Amino acid sequence: MKKQAIGVFDSGLGGLTILNALRRALPHEDLIYFGDTANVPYGSKSKQTVTRFSLDIARFLESQGVKMIVVACNTASALALTELRKQCRVPVLGVIEPGATKAAQTTRNGRVAVLGTEGTVKSKAYPKAILKKRPHTHIIQQACPLFVPLVEENWAKKSATRLIAQVYLAPVQKSQADTVILGCTHYPVLKKVIADVLGKQVKLVDSAETLAGAATEFLKQHHQNETAGRGKLTVYASDDPARFKRLAACLLAGKIGTVHLKKLNA
Ligand code: DGL
Repeated sequence: MKKQAIGVFDSGLGGLTILNALRRALPHEDLIYFGDTANVPYGSKSKQTVTRFSLDIARFLESQGVKMIVVACNTASALALTELRKQCRVPVLGVIEPGATKAAQTTRNGRVAVLGTEGTVKSKAYPKAILKKRPHTHIIQQACPLFVPLVEENWAKKSATRLIAQVYLAPVQKSQADTVILGCTHYPVLKKVIADVLGKQVKLVDSAETLAGAATEFLKQHHQNETAGRGKLTVYASDDPARFKRLAACLLAGKIGTVHLKKLNA
């Protein structure tokens, strides 16, 4: 049987947190990761633009013969998933659904907070998905745009990051949410500081872990795990692969190898 890889894409580097979780959950699967470094950030762009970028990447991944596409980017999952599913020949998995399901199961007091980019927050994709699973949940959303550059600058442990987290998380504390979705690829890197600010009583839903669980389940159900490879990782970036490789060191567990330049529609 032909060995086929799983395609994973993100607006840039952040999806490497998802890649880590996928590699832990599915060590035998070959993975092709595409980071759209030429077009990052997606978080502040329109639905139309994010959808166009996402479709271009999906077409490229399909041309590489992937058996499934994992949309690691929360913003792309929130804005482009429907169109991707319409236009792709292979199954497409997004981060929103698994994260929302987990949050709906986790909350005890029915109060959930969603942290994400402006695009993800505006789309209301998480609240819609949570309410389908658990009607009457009280949901607040908080955009945290500074978190992305802080992670990319490797500032997770600096005191400035803690101060910024305190400001962003004040409304979350006020809402008394007992469950908080880390609804952006970069936020799992800030898990410790977010947990410190919110306190132990608040449960964090890590979108990387929930998506990896959903991908594993999907492959099992569709017997696609029988085509697993040898855990090979191939990485593409649409701009400046050297920078990608350098910054990847703080996000990816393990070696990244060569990062190939792949410009789409250039
Ligand atoms: N990958 C994006 C997300 O998960 C964050 C970075 C960006 O804005 O492109 O929403």
